Amino acid sequence: MGAGIIGMGKYVPENVVTNADLEKKLDTSDEWIQTRTGIKERRIASDDTDTSHMSYRAAKEAIDNAGISPEELDLILVATVTPDQPFPSVSSMLQHQLGARNAAAMDVSAACAGFIYGLVTAKQFIESGSCKYVLVIGTEKLSKITDWSDRNTAVLFGDGSGAAVLGNVSDERGIISFELGADGSGGEHIKQEEFLKMNGREVFKFAVRQMGESSMNVVEKAGLSKEDVDFLIPHQANIRIMESARQRLDLPPERMSRTVERYGNTSSASIPLSLMYELEHGRIKDGDLIVLVGFGAGLVWGSVAMRWGR
Ligand code: COA
Repeated sequence: MGAGIIGMGKYVPENVVTNADLEKKLDTSDEWIQTRTGIKERRIASDDTDTSHMSYRAAKEAIDNAGISPEELDLILVATVTPDQPFPSVSSMLQHQLGARNAAAMDVSAACAGFIYGLVTAKQFIESGSCKYVLVIGTEKLSKITDWSDRNTAVLFGDGSGAAVLGNVSDERGIISFELGADGSGGEHIKQEEFLKMNGREVFKFAVRQMGESSMNVVEKAGLSKEDVDFLIPHQANIRIMESARQRLDLPPERMSRTVERYGNTSSASIPLSLMYELEHGRIKDGDLIVLVGFGAGLVWGSVAMRWGR
């Protein structure tokens, strides 16, 4: 038996902010945003909706979808850089709200690679026999740390949550291999002071190199080749970065998720939201080999190769 995803859920706020809406407030254009990033619109949460509220909605759906009860969870891992407050953690708040009284709870801080770090951590607990069910959530309210007067960053980000329940799956399914990495020397390039600040060009160069390399590495670690990959779920930061990873795996465009168009960059939520989107649209089937790959502030990166199904 290995560890795999046995249920998923998502939540995105209803409020859609289009590029045209941003043109009214900033010196930018729909044409610039679409050609440089691929983003058409993003979801922005209301003032009274915080990270924990969105996480709860996604978590509830994932637990129901897995067919388990909240009391059966052994561990809750919440990947976020926008918690409601520094402490208590979002995971502890959820533990209470969900009634997951047997679960331990901790938040994971690995920015946009946070969901991958969470999946890999969950895998260790499950395969060691310490946990039966682990809830992993990627969740962000980036709008609360966005400087809405800075066109360099305000057009890029969005809010949302994606959740997965991990448990034991059959030998032929689940997480086969992973890679996690960090290069703290690049920490200056993307950080939160009061608001999120970014040196876009430096992050771009790092991301293009690392997304391609890490995607290939994880396939090789699985003892497979790029021809075996059925679907790519890259972190949704910028279509040009995502394309570089897709081309490295020689995948046709229709076998890569591109929810960046509709959600923008939702940091740790982007990979689970994309996975869920592709499942809902029937593009990932039982037995498919999928590669998840992300990078983010730190700088950090991570990738996972998994065979979909229970
Ligand atoms: N609208 C119009 N013009 C904009 C703009 C906007 N929203 N944002 C920046 N510009 C301008 C810049 O001011 C710059 O003008 P200048 O040449 O007069 O100084 C010009 O566009 C080009 O800027 P540049 O930074 O070279 O653009 P780019 O092609 O690198 O695209 C990013 C910018 C941010 C989209 C790109 O660098 C990127 O995606 N980087 C990675 C960011 C990322 O992934 N972050 C998340 C990490 S998880």
